[in-house]
Amino acid sequence: MTGIFDSGVGGLTAYFELRKLLPREDIIYLADRKNAPYGTKTKDELIALTKKDIKRLSDMGARQVLIACCTASTVWGELSEGERAIATPIITPASRVAAEGERIAVIATEHTVRSGAFGREIRKFSPTSEVFERAEQPLVAMVERGARDGRISEECRDEAQKIAEWVRDIRADTLVLGCTHFSHLERTLGAMLAHVRIVSPAREGARAIKEKITVTGALGNGREIYI
Ligand code: DGL
Repeated sequence: MTGIFDSGVGGLTAYFELRKLLPREDIIYLADRKNAPYGTKTKDELIALTKKDIKRLSDMGARQVLIACCTASTVWGELSEGERAIATPIITPASRVAAEGERIAVIATEHTVRSGAFGREIRKFSPTSEVFERAEQPLVAMVERGARDGRISEECRDEAQKIAEWVRDIRADTLVLGCTHFSHLERTLGAMLAHVRIVSPAREGARAIKEKITVTGALGNGREIYI
């Protein structure tokens, strides 16, 4: 059984990806709505919440946990050895793919941008790549209110257009959706940026966890629990 968590609906994008890869895996999805949003929390608050989420899922039987939240993934290094063994963060696999670009734009929450985690990880894979980060916290709330590819509000379209202009201004060849909420808008942003490679940490995180759990994936019944 695999646990997946996020502050809200963002991590569902990782769940959709994982379900495509492992149709029979049993999955528990935790949306920590009570403490949302995570992007405005301090580092200490995030460490405490991330530990609590991992414990809650492992107490319910999850043998591995996908941290389907970039913000929570920024504190992965602060977890205990045992927690790190269970939990897979999504910034590293996404950074490995993003590092194939030369000029990389990252949109993320306030905390993720403040932490500099994407810049650090991407430069580990490609020291010469340039990384530009932009906080987009209001977009998280828009997605929580229901914005999705194919049904976005005018407010959300305006914000997506501002992001696309920024990506063009800095001449980025890659855009990282550095908050899983933004993967719900992947087609909207992709259509505005036809020549830019879009990297989704939700997708890369699902691929990373699939590698870790291929064996258990063959044994489940495709059960799903949402908490
Ligand atoms: N979906 C989350 C992320 O990937 C967090 C959004 C929030 O709660 O601020 O960072």
